[in-house]
Amino acid sequence: MTSPVKILGVSGSGRKGSYNTALLREAKSLLPPNATLEIFDVSAFPLFNEDREREPPKEVVEFKRKIREADAVLFASPEFNFSVTAQMKNALEWANRPEEDNAWDGKPAAIVSASTSVRGGARAQLQLRQIMVDLNLLPLGQPNLYLGSAQHAFDNDLKLVDPKQRKNLEALLKALVDWTLRLKAAS
Ligand SMILES: Cc1cc2nc3c(=O)[nH]c(=O)nc-3n(C[C@H](O)[C@H](O)[C@H](O)COP(=O)(O)O)c2cc1C
Repeated sequence: MTSPVKILGVSGSGRKGSYNTALLREAKSLLPPNATLEIFDVSAFPLFNEDREREPPKEVVEFKRKIREADAVLFASPEFNFSVTAQMKNALEWANRPEEDNAWDGKPAAIVSASTSVRGGARAQLQLRQIMVDLNLLPLGQPNLYLGSAQHAFDNDLKLVDPKQRKNLEALLKALVDWTLRLKAAS
């Protein structure tokens, strides 16, 4: 594959000061040279309703087009009540439907999470992995990035200043690109 690996970033938080969205922004500057990353904002999607799945809102149509155009997806998943956020689940559902038009099908993916608690969103990541089975997303196994105590890893401008976490993010991005190229070569 000679053209760059196109990654689509999806955050589960619409919060202005979101650490998870900040992780995606930071990822743009830590990519390997053969990759690009575009962030798609899913925070204004209406709540999924099966009655509308065959005539979804235009932002969902655009989202599904971007997923299909991408070589891989990078999810930045906050943890709410030990699970993924409603925003994340909503975006997953819209792009999964209707059944014969699942935009996630066969797409390589990786997860990062940032949380103000010490566990760094590990439980949300596990739940997201479980959902991925049904969507037929192909998640990267290792490495993981569970960024705990996020308020200490970012500065006031939401720049990731923790050098260890910057390295972790860089390694995960390289692994996602390698994983994507491996799957492409095998298909
Ligand atoms: C309703 C709610 C539930 C939360 N539950 C959890 C939780 O189960 N585990 C956790 O690590 N953090 C939890 N948090 C804290 C979030 O990790 C923290 O707000 C984080 O900054 C959210 O991500 P964001 O910065 O990308 O918006 C919760 C926060 C809210 C508002």
